Amino acid sequence: MDKIVSLCRRRGFVFPSSEIYGGLGSTYDYGHYGVLMKNHIRSAWLREMVQERDDIVAIDSAIILNPAVWEASGHVAGFSDPLIDCRTCKLRFRADRLEDAHCGKKPSKRPGETSECDLTEPRQFNLMFQTQVGAMEDASSSAYLRPETAQGIFINFKNVLQLARRKPPFGIAQVGKSFRNEITPGNFLFRVREFEQMEMEYFVPPDEAEKWYRYWVEKRYAWYTNLGVRESMLRIREHDENERSHYSSGTSDIEYQYPIGWQELEGIANRGDFDLTQHTKASGTKLEFVGQEGERYTPYVIEPAVSIERIFVAMLCDAYDEEVVGERERTVLHLHPQVAPVKAAVLPLVPRDEGMSTRARTLFEELRRRHTVEHDDSGQIGRRYRRQDEIGTPWAFTIDDRTLEDETVTVRDRDSLSQERLPISGVAAWLDDALQREWRSPKK
Ligand code: GAP
Repeated sequence: MDKIVSLCRRRGFVFPSSEIYGGLGSTYDYGHYGVLMKNHIRSAWLREMVQERDDIVAIDSAIILNPAVWEASGHVAGFSDPLIDCRTCKLRFRADRLEDAHCGKKPSKRPGETSECDLTEPRQFNLMFQTQVGAMEDASSSAYLRPETAQGIFINFKNVLQLARRKPPFGIAQVGKSFRNEITPGNFLFRVREFEQMEMEYFVPPDEAEKWYRYWVEKRYAWYTNLGVRESMLRIREHDENERSHYSSGTSDIEYQYPIGWQELEGIANRGDFDLTQHTKASGTKLEFVGQEGERYTPYVIEPAVSIERIFVAMLCDAYDEEVVGERERTVLHLHPQVAPVKAAVLPLVPRDEGMSTRARTLFEELRRRHTVEHDDSGQIGRRYRRQDEIGTPWAFTIDDRTLEDETVTVRDRDSLSQERLPISGVAAWLDDALQREWRSPKK
């Protein structure tokens, strides 16, 4: 993980947030390449979940909802972790994770293992961030930053059913920030307090719930392998009964083997009719489906839920490689071309040469209308290739002496390092086509 963190910093993917003020625990800001990569991940998810389907629509609900939403959903009463404080070192630990924690005074020991440790009894700590709405500062004005995007979907069930004229099975998808006051954040972006969730609630007739649950587990797993994540690093783990959330009658995690071990990348849950029933009771608005023949029922919900952060880290870990090429070492990100921040670089071999420089600039202007591409004319060509390898750019188009004679360019492939010549006029079409090709990681 250290190597990934250092590459992210060095190449401007991700920085610790508020750094000039000493940072703020486990909060990060994204630089240019980080933003581009996050955008590509989000687009790939939206394309698969909304754009290419007839049965799923998008929504963008507010972050601060009526606090009654969180009462009804069970978050006010139950969205908590058991916490233990140490009166000696003043550190706070999750009671259910003490075996992974380190004593504040003697880090080689677990909390409670030294005679100086003075631990409190466990108490429940709610993970929702509280805030005030409006000018008054009393209980009536208190509200929460949403800890998941899902509830913003449930409370709009009736709107979508009526306005988008859908009937089960159908889904509502949302991408947006969620906030959790995690007690033990860390491992870079893996567990942060502010993250971007991508959730889809799929409403189905109750007797079809099991079928659709299995369908979404498979579908989501295939999304990762189609985006080049190695199957050897992925697995599906079904939760046993005492591990599941209060609302769930079945949950499977798609896990990735992060450098910190096998961990949840995405969860797929069968939430039953829990949420729609709770909101019906609490709001007095019936959240049910009524068919044309008058049949009525509360749909069950299948929910695939993930954060861009967990995907971002998994994809970087899966892509990172250090190789020796010839005599030199290179660091390379073997990212799937669809998620690579920059799709291609345009490099004039001799930047001072006016013919090369003009052609490179013209090609770059043409390509950037369609894709995120880069023009780089500073430094030796080898160093420019290595810069692109480090940010995972799949192809580089080099304009050289031969271009001036026959209007062709060299295309260099990041993974195989093979080079071929293309007519400069065909580069845009070649790149469009290359981005659609199937891609598999060259890493073992
Ligand atoms: N609506 C259901 C729900 O929120 P969850 O398992 O608590 O379920 C869903 O979260 C997904 O959100 C996780 O699988 C993970 O990808 C992501 N996630 C949760 N907490 C996170 C955190 N603190 N930092 C980054 N991602 C997180």
